[in-house]
Amino acid sequence: MKIITVIGARPQFVKAAVVSRAIAEYNQKAPKENIEELIVHTGQHFDENMSAVFFEQMHIPKPHYNLEINSMSHGAMTGKMLEKIEAVLLKEEPDWVLVYGDTNSTIAGALAAKKLHIKVAHVEAGLRSFKTRMPEEINRILTDRISDILFCPTQTAMDNLEKEGYNNIDIQKVLCGDVMYDAALYYTDKAQKPERLKVSQDFVLSTIHRQENTDTEGNLESIFNALGEISKDRTIVLPLHPRTVKKIAQLGIQPDENIQIIDPVGYFEMIWLLMHCTMVITDSGGLQKEAFFFKKPCLTVREETEWVELIENGYNVLTGANKSAIVQAYRDLKDNDIDFNKHLYGTGSTGHEIVHELIKF
Ligand code: UD1
Repeated sequence: MKIITVIGARPQFVKAAVVSRAIAEYNQKAPKENIEELIVHTGQHFDENMSAVFFEQMHIPKPHYNLEINSMSHGAMTGKMLEKIEAVLLKEEPDWVLVYGDTNSTIAGALAAKKLHIKVAHVEAGLRSFKTRMPEEINRILTDRISDILFCPTQTAMDNLEKEGYNNIDIQKVLCGDVMYDAALYYTDKAQKPERLKVSQDFVLSTIHRQENTDTEGNLESIFNALGEISKDRTIVLPLHPRTVKKIAQLGIQPDENIQIIDPVGYFEMIWLLMHCTMVITDSGGLQKEAFFFKKPCLTVREETEWVELIENGYNVLTGANKSAIVQAYRDLKDNDIDFNKHLYGTGSTGHEIVHELIKF
C-alpha cells in the first residue's frame, strides 16, 4: 500500500508524526505487507522554528517533495498547491492521500487526489465552528465531503457529520480519538525548557495567531490590552506566530513589560511550557486540547470552538477578543480547582487505529 501524506502547517506536523510512527511500527511487525509513506510538504510554513524543528524532534520522515508554496492569498496558495500536488500524485500513483486538520494544505491535498480518483483519508474530521468566515471552516467542510474515510476525534465530530446527512452518504466514519493525545503521551518525557526563558513556573502560556484575531479591526489591540492587565498578576509567556509578529509591528502595539514574547517554539519546548504553566490563553485549536492533556485550565479568545466538550466540562472558557471578558475569565479560572480526570480524546492509540482502518478499508 502506498500513502502520500500532504502536510504544510505546524499543527499538521505534530499529527502526522503520530501516524508516521504507527506506520513504521506496523512495517516492523509485518515486513511483508510494507506500507510505503511519502511525505509532501506544501511549504505553507517554512521558518525553521515553524517547520524543520518538528521534523527533527519528532523524527518525521524527511519530505520527499517540498513544494515551497507560501505567503500568498488563500486562493493563490490553494490553487498553486492543487497544481503541484496533482503533478506529484500523477507521478507517484498512491493508493491513499492522507490529509490532516483544516488548513489550505488539507483542502488542496484532498481535492487534487479526489479528482484523480485516489482515495482520501481525513484525520481530524467532522469538526465545525459553524462560522464560514473562518478559512479553516471552509477547508474542513469541503475536505470531509470529498473524503473516503473520516477519522473523527470526538463524538461531537461524529454527531456533526450525522446532522449534515453523512449517514446517507457513502463515506466511512470512524470514531478513533485524537492523534494529538497520542503525541502528548508519547513525548511527555522529552520536555525541554525553551532557551533564555526567564521564568520556570507560575506563568500564563499564551499563543495568538488566528486570522479572525490578527485581521479583524480592534481584536489584537483588545487582546494585548487584556494580556497587559493579566501580566500585572502573572508573567505571560507568548511564543509568537510570524503572522502576529507582523501585525503587532504594523499596528504599533507595544506589549507590556511582563509579557515575555519569544520565537515560536518546537514541540518539546511547548510540552515543557504546558507542564509548567498555570493557565493557557489561546486562539489555537490544538493548544486548547493540549492544555487539557496537561491538566491546565484554558481561556480561548474566540467566539466559538470546535472542542465543545472542553467547554461543557468547565476546562475551557470562551471569551472572544473582548478585554473585560478575558480579564474576568482569567480571574474566575486562576484559583479554580478543576478535576481533569476525564478521557475525552481516546486512549492514546489513535495512530495505530488509523493505520489499522486504512489497511482494512
Ligand atoms: C495556518 C492555518 C491554520 C492553522 C495555522 C497554524 C490555513 C487557512 N490556516 O494559519 O488553520 O491553525 O496555520 O499555525 O491554512 N509565515 C511565516 N513563516 C512561517 C509560516 C508563516 O512568516 O513559517 C507567515 C506567512 O508568510 C503569512 C503568515 O505567516 O504571512 C500566515 O501564514 P499562513 O500560512 O497564511 O496561515 P497561518 O496563520 O499560519
